[in-house]
Amino acid sequence: MAAGQKSLPWLIFLWPLLGCSCALPESWLPGEYANSTSDVLRFLSDFNSTAEEVFSFAVSASWNFETNLTDYNSKVQVRRLQSEDIDETMAKSRSYNLLLFTWEAWHNTAGVPLKKLYSRFVELSNKASRADGFADTGAWWRSWDDDSETFEQDMDNLYKTIQPLYLHLHAFVRRKLYNQYGSKYINLKGPIPAHLLGNMWAQTWNNIYDLMIPFPGKVNVDVTDEMVRQGYNATHMFRVAEEFFTSLGLMEMPKEFWEGSMIVKPNDRDVVCHASAWDFYNRKDFRIKQCTKVTMDEFFTVHHEMGHIQYYLQYKNQPVGFRDGANPGFHEAIGDLMALSVSTPKHLHKINLMKSAESDEETNLNFLLNMALQKIAFLPFGYLVDLWRWGVFSEKTPPERYNADWWYLRTKYQGICPPIRRTEEQFDPGAKFHIPNNTPYIRYFVSFILQFQLHEKLCEAANHTGPLHTCDIYRSKEAGTILKKILEPGSSRPWPELLQETIGTNKIDASSLMKYFDPVIRWLEKQNVNETLGWPDFMWLPPTPEDYPENIKTTEATKESVAAPCLAFSWTNCGLEGGGGGGGVCLEQTPPGGSGLLGGGGSPVWGLVCPPGSTGPAGACAFYPLCRRLNARDDHFAFSVLVQFTASRGSRGFTL
Ligand SMILES: *[C@@H]1O[C@H](CO)[C@@H](O)[C@H](O)[C@H]1NC(C)=O
Ligand SMILES: *[C@@H]1O[C@H](CO)[C@@H](O)[C@H](O)[C@H]1NC(C)=O
Ligand SMILES: *[C@@H]1O[C@H](CO)[C@@H](O)[C@H](O)[C@H]1NC(C)=O
Ligand SMILES: *[C@@H]1O[C@H](CO)[C@@H](O)[C@H](O)[C@H]1NC(C)=O
Ligand SMILES: *[C@@H]1O[C@H](CO)[C@@H](O)[C@H](O)[C@H]1NC(C)=O
Ligand SMILES: *[C@@H]1O[C@H](CO)[C@@H](O)[C@H](O)[C@H]1NC(C)=O
Ligand SMILES: [Zn+2]
Repeated sequence: MAAGQKSLPWLIFLWPLLGCSCALPESWLPGEYANSTSDVLRFLSDFNSTAEEVFSFAVSASWNFETNLTDYNSKVQVRRLQSEDIDETMAKSRSYNLLLFTWEAWHNTAGVPLKKLYSRFVELSNKASRADGFADTGAWWRSWDDDSETFEQDMDNLYKTIQPLYLHLHAFVRRKLYNQYGSKYINLKGPIPAHLLGNMWAQTWNNIYDLMIPFPGKVNVDVTDEMVRQGYNATHMFRVAEEFFTSLGLMEMPKEFWEGSMIVKPNDRDVVCHASAWDFYNRKDFRIKQCTKVTMDEFFTVHHEMGHIQYYLQYKNQPVGFRDGANPGFHEAIGDLMALSVSTPKHLHKINLMKSAESDEETNLNFLLNMALQKIAFLPFGYLVDLWRWGVFSEKTPPERYNADWWYLRTKYQGICPPIRRTEEQFDPGAKFHIPNNTPYIRYFVSFILQFQLHEKLCEAANHTGPLHTCDIYRSKEAGTILKKILEPGSSRPWPELLQETIGTNKIDASSLMKYFDPVIRWLEKQNVNETLGWPDFMWLPPTPEDYPENIKTTEATKESVAAPCLAFSWTNCGLEGGGGGGGVCLEQTPPGGSGLLGGGGSPVWGLVCPPGSTGPAGACAFYPLCRRLNARDDHFAFSVLVQFTASRGSRGFTL
């Protein structure tokens, strides 16, 4: 629903492509650093001061663009992909053919061009990881999250714990889709065609909640009318949300927040409306951009976005490299955590938006099913993305099986199938932002489970009694104290250690999640008595509709809007939740010694300039593992290695 603009310069300046000959300021260019401890410290200090400037500059540019979409601004600023049209089609359309068209166009245009580059990237990346003493890049990534030998096994066990819940949700959803699309396209013993679940990657399913509301007569508790009746406006919604945080003993929104934020859609210009929270990296400016409407959903979104701002505020005094979530899943988890409390009838009653704190069982089931479509539906996807990537890095999955193994895992875990024949001509993993952006993914899986663990802990601290899904931590200073301890360090500490100290365990455990969803799982079990759980017809594929794609009832404009952003994909964001950033493709075009890119995706690559004299194929240095050996200051990765070093995490992996 609401994307955080977290850790962002999710933007890219491609000066050469924009025909701009402007050079980067001198102080942003790579420096000379020797392979010695004193130079490491000098690098760290240089980075610390320069990075604030660079990030601030980049974030401001992006803000100015997104809150003022003029042609002129789109030329001086970054190409930021507007994938909102496509997301909207996937979410709202119920036309089998239009969904198929959108799905196919996206996967072909975004994925196919990456295929060749990706295998080259894997080679380079492994070469660097091996030089650092790891078996391959997958092993290196796993060493960040958990040092134990059993990490892969632990994740697998965790997945097996929640799999029964997923199978029940899957069977229920498949039946409802059968009712919608019929027996031709839905096989009640097979996987579900991937384009029908309300999301391009079938990763969350709440967009098709309307097709499967358990008790349609009991619409979700909706306090929108009451908000309108009480004369709520955007400012008031933000003030009420702020009070939620201060009631926990957390921080107020600073003066600059109220002055700088854009909380209603301006009527004199076009803007990107997608809600997001921004850190300007100058320790003063924090803003939300939201075209707030007075509805209950948007009210929750305000809390979610303010959760990101609260995180920014709490860690703002960390060195710039640590101003990020404890791991990439944490930022969203914190926003979501707030929503778990705020959306309860108990909370809405306390803030005087509902007459009674009670809600009947049917309303609860509606609420919990919607949550399950967001949270449980995500789990297999969150798990398999890195299963695939670990296989790719270890070469268990060679380039000639990239797509086949991807679909094998998608079917095995998600129980979905491609809606149209896919071959090795395509590269469907490349159509998921985190693959070209090279962001590890297993942490999202972890974070979706962890947020329920955190919720339960905070609820315990707040002396909550009753079912977990009814807990509201509002006004609990005790819960706030724990939360503050989690937020303040930013990414400066390994997250398992942080958890150990704050919630008394570093083991991820699904029991809180199971507890939270227990009522709806029991209900689903009853609904599914006549269903086949799982998908024994593993290899089944739906037929391609007759006349496809000629029969699509869509305008040329729609077709263009599908195709156009995809063309931009190779170097802009096509990602999850409005996050953005650089893929790999443009980087290959950056010649050694040229300056190509500033800012980037998931791991902000700043001032990324291929050093003169870098070896390897043209531009290969842009794939940072090779670069870091040549010139440390070029890349964020080197930086984080250095930070780990100086933060006395030991010298593991330190081979500058
Ligand atoms: C840097 O120095 C360390 C120890 O002095 C050495 O092991 C390592 O190979 C050097 N790295 C490079 C890239 O020269
Ligand atoms: C980095 O900057 C922060 C302030 O943003 C400061 O507190 C810290 O001491 C600096 N660290 C280094 C190594 O320069
Ligand atoms: C929007 O951008 C234009 C340049 O295209 C600029 O002249 C104008 O002042 C900007 N408006 C706002 C409100 O920032
Ligand atoms: C919004 O609501 C608040 C509190 O009810 C009120 O003080 C303020 O004037 C309203 N703002 C606008 C722009 O209507
Ligand atoms: C929570 O319960 C504990 C133990 O019963 C008690 O000491 C504490 O005061 C309670 N806290 C709140 C906020 O009610
Ligand atoms: C399961 O099938 C039986 C027999 O056909 C039927 O009576 C019952 O209503 C079905 N249950 C559900 C939940 O569909
Ligand atoms: Zn968010």
